[in-house]
Amino acid sequence: MSNVKFLSGENIPLEMHKVRMVQKVNLLPVEDRLDRMEEAGFNTFLLKNRDVFMDMLTDSGVNAMSQNQYAAMMQADDSYAGSETFYRLEATLQDIFGMEYFLPAHQGRACENIISQVLVKPGMVTVMNYHFTTTKAHITINGGTVEEIVVDEGLKITSTAPFKGDMDLDKLNESIARNGKENIAFVRIEAGTNLIGGQPVSMGNMREVSKICRSHGIPLVYDASLLGDNLYFIKVRDPEYKDVDIKTIVREITSFMDVIYFSARKLGSARGGGILVSDEKLFLRMRELIPLYEGFLTYGGMSVREMEALSVGLEETMDFDVINQTPIIVEALCNELLAKGVPVVTPPGGLGCHVDAMEFCSHVPQEEYKAGALAAAIYIASGVRCMERGTLSEQRNEDGTERFAEMELARIAVPRRVFTLSQVKYTADRINWLFKNRHLIGGLKFVEEPTMLRFFFGRLEPVGDWPEKLTEQFRKDFGESL
Ligand code: F0G
Repeated sequence: MSNVKFLSGENIPLEMHKVRMVQKVNLLPVEDRLDRMEEAGFNTFLLKNRDVFMDMLTDSGVNAMSQNQYAAMMQADDSYAGSETFYRLEATLQDIFGMEYFLPAHQGRACENIISQVLVKPGMVTVMNYHFTTTKAHITINGGTVEEIVVDEGLKITSTAPFKGDMDLDKLNESIARNGKENIAFVRIEAGTNLIGGQPVSMGNMREVSKICRSHGIPLVYDASLLGDNLYFIKVRDPEYKDVDIKTIVREITSFMDVIYFSARKLGSARGGGILVSDEKLFLRMRELIPLYEGFLTYGGMSVREMEALSVGLEETMDFDVINQTPIIVEALCNELLAKGVPVVTPPGGLGCHVDAMEFCSHVPQEEYKAGALAAAIYIASGVRCMERGTLSEQRNEDGTERFAEMELARIAVPRRVFTLSQVKYTADRINWLFKNRHLIGGLKFVEEPTMLRFFFGRLEPVGDWPEKLTEQFRKDFGESL
């Protein structure tokens, strides 16, 4: 969606930045990749980055920073209390979001901890378009439950719906009637809905959800971690907002919300997090917990250098040429794969390209973690590290049975402004090869299974010797090539 047209008519994503500092990456031979995957218990989180060619595990805390962000780090004020850096960040946030109160936290899940501790009481329900792993864990640890009411289209892999992260308003009304408004801790809208493929939420939907929540006095919480991507999609997919400047769009969104929180590992391309709130009483209740869990109120667990980078990063998020960089690369990667028949979530979303493991590995049973197996196979085939977003990322039911995910995805994240188009084409090439040889991929089973957020450090082993067979086939097809 860049304004630059090519004579050839091709739709080529164009980088609106240049690279001035680089990090060497290693591409190991396929046999070594197999060994490293075995050592990592077939869990891509447990790979060492030195063994990874392209780290597409996440877009979290690994985005390229601008020269202005690095420059701002030099003016950080280290004071424990009353740091000038805090006041600069607070002023930037107030200016962009138009909310009065700001609480700093060390990352997004820390915000979820504070918000859940204050708003969720045992037995209460939280209603949201879709959960995120850490969000759900914080709500359930406080005795609450999660109800997901994303529109039906949101759970379809293939679609042309522009805003698949929208909430189903009938389901929202039904949930409030069934649970009673006093039993709903909060309603949560997640921008750029992560686990269903980075799918955006429309302005119209947020407006309607807000009206319903306000008419019942239910707090509306906005997870703005993926706001940058969502803003891009509002501009390019909603004709009403095509010519509206980004800051005005943000102000309209925030006018609907009671609480906003974000992971600054995504929003603002730094590392940290924060909560914004307009109600003084709620602010005071949350504020008490910050020094307990995060740090003093003027840093909240963040390094002051990161806070300075964040202030600049947030301002840069208001620039269309900055926020369009990931979605256009995601779209290019999706298109390369779709051209070869590889099943991916459509329309392409933000944060990454999501390969549909349900279909890709249709021969692998869901209880053998097909998306986890695909993520491991992608590393062996390419040295690219991606992330399982399926049943492995779920928590077991209370009775110990498996909770099967609605979608089994291998998420190939596209960190902002990090990789070039040729690297993206390499990734697509190897996944296309893997798709041709998909019959060689088998399942996984747990060897060590943690009870909480098991996907982070659980260890697995393959069912059978499929990784060896896959490696042999790679050698046969690619000869001496890495
Ligand atoms: N909300 C959303 C929508 C997220 O994507 C994340 C993190 C969080 C909250 C938690 O923020 O990591 O700063 O504590 N997502 C990362 C990912 C981990 O890879 O998608 P955090």
